[in-house]
Amino acid sequence: MTEAVLLVGGKGTRLQPLTLNTPKPMVPAAGVPFLAHQLARARAAGVEHIVLATSYLAEVFEPYFGDGSAYGLRLTYVTEDQPLGTGGAIRGAAEALTTRPDEPVLVFNGDILTGLDIPALLRRHERAQADVTLHLTRVADPRAYGLVPTAPDGRVLAFTEKPRHPDEIVTDQINAGCYVFRREVIDTIPAGRPVSVERETFPGLLDGGALLHGLVDASYWLDLGRPASFIQASADLVRGIVRSPAVPGEPGEHLVLPGAHVEPGARLAGGTVVGAGARVGAGAEITGSVVLDGARIEAGARIRASMIGNAARVGPRTVLDGAVIGDHAEIGADNELREGARVWCGTAIPDAAIRFGAA
Ligand code: GDD
Ligand code: MG
Repeated sequence: MTEAVLLVGGKGTRLQPLTLNTPKPMVPAAGVPFLAHQLARARAAGVEHIVLATSYLAEVFEPYFGDGSAYGLRLTYVTEDQPLGTGGAIRGAAEALTTRPDEPVLVFNGDILTGLDIPALLRRHERAQADVTLHLTRVADPRAYGLVPTAPDGRVLAFTEKPRHPDEIVTDQINAGCYVFRREVIDTIPAGRPVSVERETFPGLLDGGALLHGLVDASYWLDLGRPASFIQASADLVRGIVRSPAVPGEPGEHLVLPGAHVEPGARLAGGTVVGAGARVGAGAEITGSVVLDGARIEAGARIRASMIGNAARVGPRTVLDGAVIGDHAEIGADNELREGARVWCGTAIPDAAIRFGAA
């Protein structure tokens, strides 16, 4: 039986205001909390028991996911009163595992959408006889990630988290946020104090001569930490560009959840999802966007690559492009909000008050 730890305790600061009331893994992507996709993918890979390492807004996970039986899984919840960082969270969560010292444990960052073949990572770990095996991916700009150069045989040569100096950028291979640990290696992480697995554990293991192995993989990969990538991930799930057994519908240009109402003549495209109880007015055009439960999009609004919070309202003819609208916000008619615009929860914007970034 394979067990996993899923790290879901981060504050999701870069996704505010969506993460003010909802922890990042519980924000819906393609109609269900993002976490549901990760659980389904882990289950499909043969994982039977997952420990959720929670901290920020910890209390909301269990009422939704329960004991996991509805997902064919056993779920255990471990909560840090004070955030213990990625390493501290892994160490704490491991107390709830039954895996033997020499057996593998999977660890997942809670905000990654990937098409990684998880069983292939486990097989590679076995074959390399590694202490830790890391999923690596290549990105155009690696600066916001953990840099992981490897030797031709896959041995990890260094681990540099979020390099500050240009000289440190020696590779475009980054830590993709999924690891296989030999169980006893987790037990060497200090307990009860904050530890960063990226800044402390991995560099420390390398200094001590441990064998870290990297599997560079070219399948779909996105970190959902920023609004643009979260919205993209949701649209890609809706369109089936990346598959998840948890999407509540067939792949297509849009996904309209039960209880939503879309007026004839409204156009939904590019993987747009419309949440339960939401309403879309006549002639509205919504492309590649996430409309959460109970939101109202009025007639003639044009929305692209944006996220509309729960019960928020977007007035007639308003244009949104790359915007994030918080829960219960009210945007009046004839506004224009573009690239990176964020409207805080509950904020009211009068009619024709903003033309942001307009040509
Ligand atoms: N339980 C718990 N406690 N979880 C935490 C804590 C904590 O104190 N801090 C962070 N996490 C969780 C987050 O919820 C997230 O799922 C995961 O750990 C990684 O944290 P992020 O805040 O998303 O880190 P990042 O995106 O800046 O960087 C990480 O991911 C990159 C890939 O997306 C690092 O692992 C990088 O090395 C990596 O390249
Ligand atoms: Mg992240």
